[in-house]
Amino acid sequence: MENKFYITTPIYYVNDKPHIGHAYTNIVADLLARWREQQGEDILYLTGTDEFAQKTVDAAKKNNEEVHEYTDRMASIWQSTWEKLKLSNSDFIRTTEERHIATVKDFWGRVDAAGDIYKGKYEGLYCKGHEAFMKEDELTPDGLCPDHKTKPEWISEENYFFKLSAYQDKLLDFYNDHPDFVAPANRFHEVKSFVERGLEDISISRENRPWGIPVPNDPHHVVYVWFDALINYISAVGMERWEEHPADIHVMAKDITRFHAVIWPAMLMSAGLPLPGQILAHGFFTINGTKISKSLGNAIDPLEIANKYGNDALRYFLLREIPFGEDGDFSEEKMKERYNGDLANGLGNFAARVLTLAEKEEFVMENGEWRMENEFQEQIDKMKKTVYAKVNQFRFHEALAAVWEAIAFGDKYVNENKLWAIADEKERRRKLFSAVTLLDNLAATLLPFMPETSRKITASIQWEGKRLKAKKPEILFPRIR
Ligand code: MSP
Repeated sequence: MENKFYITTPIYYVNDKPHIGHAYTNIVADLLARWREQQGEDILYLTGTDEFAQKTVDAAKKNNEEVHEYTDRMASIWQSTWEKLKLSNSDFIRTTEERHIATVKDFWGRVDAAGDIYKGKYEGLYCKGHEAFMKEDELTPDGLCPDHKTKPEWISEENYFFKLSAYQDKLLDFYNDHPDFVAPANRFHEVKSFVERGLEDISISRENRPWGIPVPNDPHHVVYVWFDALINYISAVGMERWEEHPADIHVMAKDITRFHAVIWPAMLMSAGLPLPGQILAHGFFTINGTKISKSLGNAIDPLEIANKYGNDALRYFLLREIPFGEDGDFSEEKMKERYNGDLANGLGNFAARVLTLAEKEEFVMENGEWRMENEFQEQIDKMKKTVYAKVNQFRFHEALAAVWEAIAFGDKYVNENKLWAIADEKERRRKLFSAVTLLDNLAATLLPFMPETSRKITASIQWEGKRLKAKKPEILFPRIR
């Protein structure tokens, strides 16, 4: 248990349901979890919901629901979305769970004991959309939050503060010693220059709020939602396990890297706990070129896309279309194009052709050996090597491109050599056997990317001692008009 590879996603606010951007994060985490599993590791993959935001209360009110009822209902929507997408998360944490509340109190106590919490007065502008304080120079000329287009609330209240400023040098030293702490590198650069500019202490409580985790020994205050939320990564595994083996990778988008790469490590240093291995940040999605926003109502439900095209096709599109780390755009038109092109005509067609031809053949080992065409072996080796290197660099789109190069090679080979028309039985079998072996290797390589498809292909290729039996699979990707 202690040595399981531990990967997390952000915990999501429950004032809305999941959209394609959230699905992307969880699919990337799922890919990495399955990838590490394929390398022989045991996996702990955590996702969940962040329920103590002030906007949760507003959303519940708007729906005429008790806040508890509302959060229960919304959390189950998030949970069932990941189930329906067949993601492999091994746990789902809700911040309203007792295991989390207890851990937050414990954590607060440690930071307090370290002398890093003090009481002070906070005056400033608070944006509920961000659940964060904002500076005036961050607002638009007419005083609105540029992302949420709403007027931040002026807040003047007594707050507890965390001495973030005391951690500037320690953070910079840590970054120096851990050159891969934030990936991709351009994000790390942003984080470092932010810290180099100097850090201010941050408010970590809110006064007289009805919703939140009470501050230990001061029930007039609740813990600020971000301070509570980050601790979820410990709550899920327990303090002891975290001390032995903290998260290996926290996956998220660039919007919340600062919380994870600056505040979170400082909190952990203060509490005397080990730091996570890596903060992995991807870009932001637009839909048909426009920002995804509740007010525009343009959010795309990942389940709708998955129902129409299949879970694996959604995974394929997101991982193939968008270079990891960069901003990307989702449009159904592009999705359909890749589906019909790369999947129906590409992988699906190649698998169907090879297996239909192979079904009619007898493949038997000769003198203890399977005879392969060299070209195929070379393709397989090249594909595997490239995929291994690219996934380790988080260049998933290039990993997939390498697999599709191997498919293109196979297709071309089948055509040019007219595998269906070779009269010499031995030669025909050797060539077809090579093609089936390529397909088998494609399927194994695709397992973390497209688990259902991979299993369907593998199930059609059965190695039985000295024999190989192939059978035509169901149509993998029916064409969509
Ligand atoms: N609750 C906080 C996170 C706390 S983690 C300790 C939060 N929640 S959120 O619901 O706003 O989710 C933010 C995350 O959702 C992003 O970091 C990203 O993973 C995902 N995305 C939300 N919109 C997205 C896009 N438009 N594009 C890509 N990812 C998006 O912040």
